[in-house]
Amino acid sequence: MAKADTHSTSCKIPRHVAIIMDGNGRWARKRHLPRVAGHRMGLEAVRKTIQACVEQGVEILTLFAFSSENWRRPAEEVGLLMKLFITALDSEVKKLHRNGVCLRVIGELSAFTPELQQRITAAEILTAGNSTLTLNIAANYGGRWDITRAARALAAQVERGELRSAEIDEELLRRQLSLADLPDPDLFIRTGGEQRISNFLLWQLAYTEFYFTDLLWPAFDAVALQQAFDSFGSRQRRFGRTSEQVEEAGDA
Ligand code: FPP
Repeated sequence: MAKADTHSTSCKIPRHVAIIMDGNGRWARKRHLPRVAGHRMGLEAVRKTIQACVEQGVEILTLFAFSSENWRRPAEEVGLLMKLFITALDSEVKKLHRNGVCLRVIGELSAFTPELQQRITAAEILTAGNSTLTLNIAANYGGRWDITRAARALAAQVERGELRSAEIDEELLRRQLSLADLPDPDLFIRTGGEQRISNFLLWQLAYTEFYFTDLLWPAFDAVALQQAFDSFGSRQRRFGRTSEQVEEAGDA
């Protein structure tokens, strides 16, 4: 996988892309296959997307693999998804490492089996020094969980007398969030036709451009990613300013 130096020639490639990969179940149902077959093909789409992001020069990719709410699914499907995560970690990590991908998993990981937690930690340690692409996998993640945890961390500092409550501002809270050391997503993509955030990165998506597609996740590929980038490239990001101000500043 060759990394293109796209950022120097164009600022239309998003630095950070966040994706809700929806539609695996429907993709399988349409083909009279079990839902897990959809998740397996979903993993194939994950591979293609990672490769396309590396080729396009995306710096950070954050994928919603399993939400805090997904535990409500039938136990059999949850179990099969967990198995798929373990298999994926085993089969993909070396390849990701060879390609310079830094893998991180965000979310309430204590709910996972010790075996899975151990594999996650080992993969994070192995790939920590890589810088071609940072790949964040959100697993048992919820945006409200992330913000609540940040608030609790600040409250603990107040309790210990290290911080006064009046000193708490957006920046202090932001620093306690899961992706605190990374820029917020520029582009959010959701496949599968639904148009909602579903408790994904609630804080971090405040100024992100949203892109929705009816494509079911297993059908998502480099062409679909390019379409999302084209849509992103055609937008003017104003961050609260007027379009005249943006044009004057030259970052339209
Ligand atoms: C949503 O589709 C998808 C999931 C809940 C699981 C996502 C998992 C993968 C893409 C495979 C493995 C990924 C990694 C990163 C190892 P859905 O089941 O809600 O589909 P539906 O809305 O059609 O029912």
